[in-house]
Amino acid sequence: MNEHLKKLIRSHYHDLSGYVSAGMETAKGDEKIFLNANENPYALPGLGSMNRYPEPQPAELLEAYAKTYGVQTDQILATRGADESIKLLTRVFCEPHEDSVLIHPPTFGIYKVDAQSLPVEVLEAPLVEESGAFSLNTEEMIETAKNKKAKMVYICSPNNPTGSSFAHEDILRICTELEGMSAIILDEAYVEFSEKDSLTPKLAEHPNLIILRTLSKAYSLAGARMGVTLCADEKFISFMKEKVSDIYPLPLPSVMAALRALSPESKDDFQNNIQTILSERERMKEEFRTSRLIRKTYLSDANFLLVKMSDNKMDKNIASDFIDFCRLQDLILRDLSGKPDTQGCIRITIGSPKQNDYLIKVMKRFEDKMAEAAA
Ligand SMILES: Cc1ncc(COP(=O)(O)O)c(C=O)c1O
Repeated sequence: MNEHLKKLIRSHYHDLSGYVSAGMETAKGDEKIFLNANENPYALPGLGSMNRYPEPQPAELLEAYAKTYGVQTDQILATRGADESIKLLTRVFCEPHEDSVLIHPPTFGIYKVDAQSLPVEVLEAPLVEESGAFSLNTEEMIETAKNKKAKMVYICSPNNPTGSSFAHEDILRICTELEGMSAIILDEAYVEFSEKDSLTPKLAEHPNLIILRTLSKAYSLAGARMGVTLCADEKFISFMKEKVSDIYPLPLPSVMAALRALSPESKDDFQNNIQTILSERERMKEEFRTSRLIRKTYLSDANFLLVKMSDNKMDKNIASDFIDFCRLQDLILRDLSGKPDTQGCIRITIGSPKQNDYLIKVMKRFEDKMAEAAA
């Protein structure tokens, strides 16, 4: 394993022998008789081979991921969504009560929650906002990580909840500056919606770079819980498989759904859906620009928009009232207005054209209600 990552791993992991599961011997399509894993020999009608434990890291799935993401199969750890990758990596790198992770608020809340549950310290280098666009505070991130010896640095691009994607040169500079000191966890959950490409082609140049991808967003598979951890160092990936990953992490129905989503037959649907979401995002941005309810719509490179809501006549931000109003009309939005780094903001996922039309209708109803109250 490369020294940059090896020295970041908690020392006791190096001595663990790992667990060799019966599933390691499971070869797909094999004619052998398996009496090694205490499985039930009787499959229930219509449920295929669900009586058998699944392959821990199915070869066919890894090949489909490798083709999709442009990496080698041994550079992929398949996980139950990017969420599981975050949990596993935190556990591998961070010594409870000793280490720290660095985040750039506002960002995906799970990074902080996972770190705090270990617990390890969470350092912050907030994003910088200018004219509705957020960017990384690269210098502050590097300085804070160096000063506090952050074990992990999370970069989320495109970022949830702001929607902003960050300059590749900033991200790669952080990788270079922190080589040997921090693992850089680049979360590209929304990159398929972005104008910027994934940074996977740069993995080989940055030994401390780990990239997370998911099938939950662009591939419409949030319910299947499928994602990956990508790293150029195949020894790090095999370490994760042998000593860190669950024994049977991937349920068979989810693997089958993923193979379908990544297959050439799904390609047209996949691309059309993304195109529709992107053009709907632009339509909604224009709607929001002229709405009296919304003060500002932030630039987004993802499948959602972060908006800052207006104030009412009493100078009170209307975000929470609007969220409650929507809920009464069966429309659920994400209220971020009470959080210090997204005050007065809500996050709106781009839905289907029909769903978005409904949102516009509800916004107009709320505008009318506010106008009535003011009269
Ligand atoms: C930035 C980011 N990363 C990761 C995830 C979780 O992805 P998954 O569904 O693959 O666990 C989300 C989910 O909303 C997200 O916004």
